[in-house]
Amino acid sequence: MKYRVLFVCLGNICRSPSAEAVFNGLVNRKGETPLFKIDSAGTSDYHRGEPADARMQTHAIKRGYHLTSVSRPFDPATDWDNFDFIVAMDDSNKRTLKQMARNLKDINKIYMMTDFSRQFNYHEVPDPYYGGEQGFELVLDLLEDAGEGLYDYIKKSKTE
Ligand code: 4NP
Repeated sequence: MKYRVLFVCLGNICRSPSAEAVFNGLVNRKGETPLFKIDSAGTSDYHRGEPADARMQTHAIKRGYHLTSVSRPFDPATDWDNFDFIVAMDDSNKRTLKQMARNLKDINKIYMMTDFSRQFNYHEVPDPYYGGEQGFELVLDLLEDAGEGLYDYIKKSKTE
């Protein structure tokens, strides 16, 4: 596949599964699903094998996103080579990814989701796990917004 994108958060049950679903939807609406490989992972294995958080699923489904992914930890042995854009949700995710990087090439694949924001001015996609309903809505708002920016960035950076 031409464009390989991995979204990364801590547990891989809230933010990155949502990012995966939102970005899948965006790419599908552009008619470009065959060009993209899209996946998600956690920097921890706390929730390995679990489906997405039920609260996150409830909020996502209201916007038409089905969270189908099963939590898995980031695998340095395969993920660095299998993806070109590794997109972290917060600073802690980014730091952990950097610690797992094998070389500068790996480090150069790491991005922050909010770097691609257009409407919102957040530095991170805040962890909604211990918060209320509005935290899950904010996650989706930020992901829908930044997803557009990420799509444009990827198309620009890899066509040449
Ligand atoms: P996520 O949310 O990183 O967006 O999947 C979290 C899920 C679980 C925990 C923290 C954040 N946890 O501490 O178990």
